[in-house]
Amino acid sequence: MKDLVSRRDFLKTTGSVAAASALTAASIPSVHAAGGDTVQVALVGCGGRGTGAASDALSTKGGDVKLVAVADVLQNRMNSSFKQLAGEFKDQVKVPEENKFLGFDAYKKAIDTLGKGDVVILTTPPAFRWVMFKYAIEKGVNVFMEKPVTVDGPSSRKMLELNEEAKKKDIKVGVGLMVRHCKGRQQLFDRIKGGEIGDITAMRAYRIHPPVGSAFSTRKPEKESELIYQVKRFHSFLWASGGLFSDFYIHQIDECCWMKDAWPVKAEALGGRHFRGDNIDQNFDNYSVEYTFGDGTKFFYYGRHMVGTPSRFFSGVHGTKGSAIVSASGHTPGKVKTFKDHNMKEEIWAFPQPEPNPYRVEWQDLLDAIRDNKPYNEVERGVKA
Ligand SMILES: NC(=O)c1ccc[n+]([C@@H]2O[C@H](COP(=O)([O-])OP(=O)(O)OC[C@H]3O[C@@H](n4cnc5c(N)ncnc54)[C@H](O)[C@@H]3O)[C@@H](O)[C@H]2O)c1
Repeated sequence: MKDLVSRRDFLKTTGSVAAASALTAASIPSVHAAGGDTVQVALVGCGGRGTGAASDALSTKGGDVKLVAVADVLQNRMNSSFKQLAGEFKDQVKVPEENKFLGFDAYKKAIDTLGKGDVVILTTPPAFRWVMFKYAIEKGVNVFMEKPVTVDGPSSRKMLELNEEAKKKDIKVGVGLMVRHCKGRQQLFDRIKGGEIGDITAMRAYRIHPPVGSAFSTRKPEKESELIYQVKRFHSFLWASGGLFSDFYIHQIDECCWMKDAWPVKAEALGGRHFRGDNIDQNFDNYSVEYTFGDGTKFFYYGRHMVGTPSRFFSGVHGTKGSAIVSASGHTPGKVKTFKDHNMKEEIWAFPQPEPNPYRVEWQDLLDAIRDNKPYNEVERGVKA
């Protein structure tokens, strides 16, 4: 098809766009949040991560932050999230009854309560991301959106297209790849760049654990609508999330590519599904991918989600002079280290514990950028990851 872009061309184009946008943004005059120093926040998608992201936003330092609106398609999710946030942040949760919005157009009403300088949190299943991003851009509102930001090729191109408009308007956009804000991983990146473990020759990552989230699904209960069922169990359906591969593996794929400071040019993959009774989800049980970078370096990714099997979570890098841990056992703490050897025994350096929580740091970084009117846009990285 004419409009299909090769991955190589796609990366070339997006790279030059990023450089151009940084220049444009730098020349735009200062803007302030609608409520003076107060940054108002609206939460769209009041699930587990949405509630967490709102809590991270309300915990930032450097100025007042208030939650002023909430939106969801499910009343019970909205109620429990609101109750938790109002209990935890009594003075900062200022959501009048008329600012609690329910339904598939609720996001518009929540965004309408905000002004320039405020932030909408988009933490619904990823399928809705570009639609909501588009409206936020139209309204000139800053955005924090969770990963994954797209579910397939067409929605990736759509997101990049929309982002051009966001950059022209100097809208600040944070994307929930919080590992990028982890102080330990940032120092590790600098050390690898500085040659501490030599040239990277191989990387490997594992995410192996029993099924979690809504990745495996049996048939829909008779009384529930098909749409609501699939929205609730979004990890099970490719249109809604890109499937568990996209939703679960994005962080480790991103962190390893970050350490290599490049994106792969080729991916060859295997996956398989065993007999799982009457499960109707679209996921495999196991995936393995061999990524190849332009210089021939390989990155091997392994994922498996089966009941009764052992668990493993790890991302590591091997170089000509040693190796490094990028993730020891989870996203946070990363417990990054460098080693002289490949058995990861002879330690060179370890980031001191405890590490600052990257979910908090990513919000501090976004709000600092809003208050200081610094260019801030993580969309391209989010799409490429
Ligand atoms: N960065 C991270 O480490 C991290 C961790 C967990 C989840 N996430 C991401 O956050 C997003 C949400 O995940 P979750 O675990 O909170 O899921 P969840 O099911 O707990 O929450 C999603 C919420 O969105 C609501 N919703 C669905 N469609 C909607 C719509 N069209 N309009 C308004 N509300 C809608 C649902 O009713 C639900 O309350 C996903 O993209 C997920 O990948 C990121």
